[in-house]
Amino acid sequence: MDHFLYRDGVLHAEDVPLTEIAAEVGTPFYCYSTATLTRHFRLFDEALAGTDHLVCYAMKANSNQAVLKLMAELGAGADVVSGGEYARAVAAGFPGERIVFSGVGKTRAEMRAALEGGIRQFNLESEPEMEVLNEVALSLGKVAPVTVRVNPDVDAKTHEKIATGKSENKFGIPISRAREVYARAAALPGLEVVGIDVHIGSQLTELEPYGLAFDKVAALTAALRADGHTIRRLDLGGGLGIPYERSNSAPPLPIEYGALVKEKLGHLGCEIEIEPGRLIAGNAGILVSEVIYVKSGEGRDFLILDAAMNDLVRPAMYGAHHDIVPVIEPEPGVEPHVYDIVGPVCESGDTFAKGRKLPPVGPGDLVAFRSAGAYGATMASEYNSRPLIPEVLVKDGQFALVRARPSFEEMIARDTIPTWM
Ligand code: LLP
Repeated sequence: MDHFLYRDGVLHAEDVPLTEIAAEVGTPFYCYSTATLTRHFRLFDEALAGTDHLVCYAMKANSNQAVLKLMAELGAGADVVSGGEYARAVAAGFPGERIVFSGVGKTRAEMRAALEGGIRQFNLESEPEMEVLNEVALSLGKVAPVTVRVNPDVDAKTHEKIATGKSENKFGIPISRAREVYARAAALPGLEVVGIDVHIGSQLTELEPYGLAFDKVAALTAALRADGHTIRRLDLGGGLGIPYERSNSAPPLPIEYGALVKEKLGHLGCEIEIEPGRLIAGNAGILVSEVIYVKSGEGRDFLILDAAMNDLVRPAMYGAHHDIVPVIEPEPGVEPHVYDIVGPVCESGDTFAKGRKLPPVGPGDLVAFRSAGAYGATMASEYNSRPLIPEVLVKDGQFALVRARPSFEEMIARDTIPTWM
């Protein structure tokens, strides 16, 4: 069910015409749909129904406080990877017992904050990290619940920059060494082993790699239990992909993923945690931008937008595809034009799409990037001193600015001049 549809010739977010939001907040801006966010969370929750489980939203995908509050109210947990994300999760209302702390390089300060504020578990990624968490926990008179993230050495068949489950990746400990690492963890008085963690990558479009990883986790659960460890929780990470191109075949659905989880791991009697990010937020958001110029180049036309790579870096960084559509519905039968769609940033990499077919548009027209709700705003920067763009949340016929665009003055005021100048 798509909540970004044309109605009366104008692209809407739920019941709100995007032209109305653009007139109020200016372009470019991100716009999120409450209905889609809600639906996507529920798809995962329902896919694991009948099993003790917690869907921990991977907030790196979209960490706007309003989105987080919505997730917290729906009953989600949160997967955080930094002190900043932990603070955001707490501020949005996630109770500590629903927050899991992932990430390959947690600092002492981050561990302390989470232990003091409350945490469901730390997903540990190395032995040095294990020793440090033990020390920090003991210094606070606490025992830290932990899993160890194992690297199952499976090919997630995704973009190399977001594959994490191969032995050459920096994540987790090799599954072949898991038993000795768990033995060490069990010997540390500041840690309590509660389960196993695995995450093999992002934007997975097939279930097969999950199946391979889950088989290894099932075997490891049996081996660790035989060694005397209490394995009561399995954190399976996130990674289920979304359809970025409407023309392409769709990735597996959460219900199919859930069925695989139950098939491979259901017999173990563990509580299941999953950490989806992209599938919850990705297709719940769009980026709306205005055409500044159409420039005729040598054998090509450039569509120059007011959005740039600093606002949405995925095309520049991963060669990622985002469907781009006009906000005003094209007349039926209109011949598409071929454009190179670019932003105003001073780099050739600031190219959203090359040779993209689009109904003809001109200066002042609005276009929307689909599937931009995940890893859009969270990866944005102020490169070229372009202030972070606003974010808007829609619910039925209402919309609210959930992050305002900073003024140039506010942006400049974050810097300070040394006293000697
Ligand atoms: N859990 C862990 C430990 C992760 O590292 C990630 C994503 C997730 C969960 C959520 O994965 P998801 O369900 O969103 O696929 N910036 C990239 C994606 C990076 C993903 C990093 N880790 C992009 O724009 O495609």
